[in-house]
Amino acid sequence: MKFSLSFSVCFAPAPAPEEHVDHSIHAPQSFPNVHFYSYKELKDATQGFRNKVGEGGFGSVYKGRLQNGTHVAVKVLSAESNQGEREFMAEIAAMSNVRHENLVRLLGGCVDGNNRILVYEYMENNSVVQILLGGEHNKAKFTWDLRRKICLGVARGLAYLHDEVKPHILHRDIKARNILLDGEFTPKVSDFGLSKLFTDNMTHISTRVAGTLGYLAPEYAISGRLTRKSDVYSFGALVMEILSGRPVVDFNLELGEHNLVEKAWNMYKGKELLELMDPTLRGEFPQEEAIQFLKVGLLCVQEDPRLRPHMPKAVKMLCNEIDIKEVQIMPPGIIMDLVNVKVGSKNTSTSSATKGSTSSSSWGFRSATLI
Ligand SMILES: Nc1ncnc2c1ncn2[C@@H]1O[C@H](COP(=O)(O)OP(=O)(O)OP(=O)(O)O)[C@@H](O)[C@H]1O
Ligand SMILES: [Mg+2]
Repeated sequence: MKFSLSFSVCFAPAPAPEEHVDHSIHAPQSFPNVHFYSYKELKDATQGFRNKVGEGGFGSVYKGRLQNGTHVAVKVLSAESNQGEREFMAEIAAMSNVRHENLVRLLGGCVDGNNRILVYEYMENNSVVQILLGGEHNKAKFTWDLRRKICLGVARGLAYLHDEVKPHILHRDIKARNILLDGEFTPKVSDFGLSKLFTDNMTHISTRVAGTLGYLAPEYAISGRLTRKSDVYSFGALVMEILSGRPVVDFNLELGEHNLVEKAWNMYKGKELLELMDPTLRGEFPQEEAIQFLKVGLLCVQEDPRLRPHMPKAVKMLCNEIDIKEVQIMPPGIIMDLVNVKVGSKNTSTSSATKGSTSSSSWGFRSATLI
């Protein structure tokens, strides 16, 4: 069983935009660097919003082909933005200026009545999840070199968002589904900045709890306190998922609940960290480097956010520019399951005590109420 905290709360699902009078707002002069598409342009590009490639908490994604031949992913937001048209456009303009090799590029958007649509570059190889869960055939592509490239690319993309973009951007929902792969399998982080479109005048938590159990930093889940270190936690869990080929949380009738971070910590304590590596790799990976990556993962999920490295430092650790052989790793913070936790600054339930792994800090959640 998978517990996911990733959902939208106050968003009414919008019907697929069909029979429609085009009210699209065209590129206002004040946003010269961003492309605003007309509704018709996007309708034509997607053959009437037919070729749906996926659906997430923010809406449906369609594959499209623009008139100039460019393939695009057209995300029709299912939520009503809290923002007015101009603010929405300003946000799109800001997001499309954030460019990095490891970030999915936002090409532009469309504002048309209540419809809000985002247009991204199209990622041919879908998300890391497709490889992870795609059976043996897909997993065969998932060599050590590709896993290494994905971990490093995501780290660099996040470091850019955290450290080079001013003001910095928190991703809030780093997970395998949000790591897309282009035609060359270059990893690109998607959906950064998206939650900002819906959080006008509200706390970060009130419209959508960003995060999925297993990736979610405990302090964020409990107190709603969001910092760059919450993204660092999610990144650490992601590294373990990529290297082990196993989901961050899972439920299996034979083995019961499985939490990857906890498992990794136990293996680390037992000095058998390499046991975590994906058996489908058949041992074909450099052991020292694999251990280094797993240790970086463990450093990133430490319970105390202050001990987690900032992303630029994590990049250096992965590249071996910072030696971590002797670094002491403290226990991770783990959310074991959901028991009545109300995420939000006012309604935080503390009854589900924290559990660190030495002192066993388990964050109990079951049937979470997220507001
Ligand atoms: N730029 C893109 N290129 C190709 N496919 C994409 C692109 N963006 C999204 N997709 C596909 O659409 C699916 C839905 O994406 P979306 O971001 O809406 O949701 P998600 O990330 O899967 O879930 P959540 O909303 O919980 O984060 C993805 O799983 C992916 O398969
Ligand atoms: Mg996504």
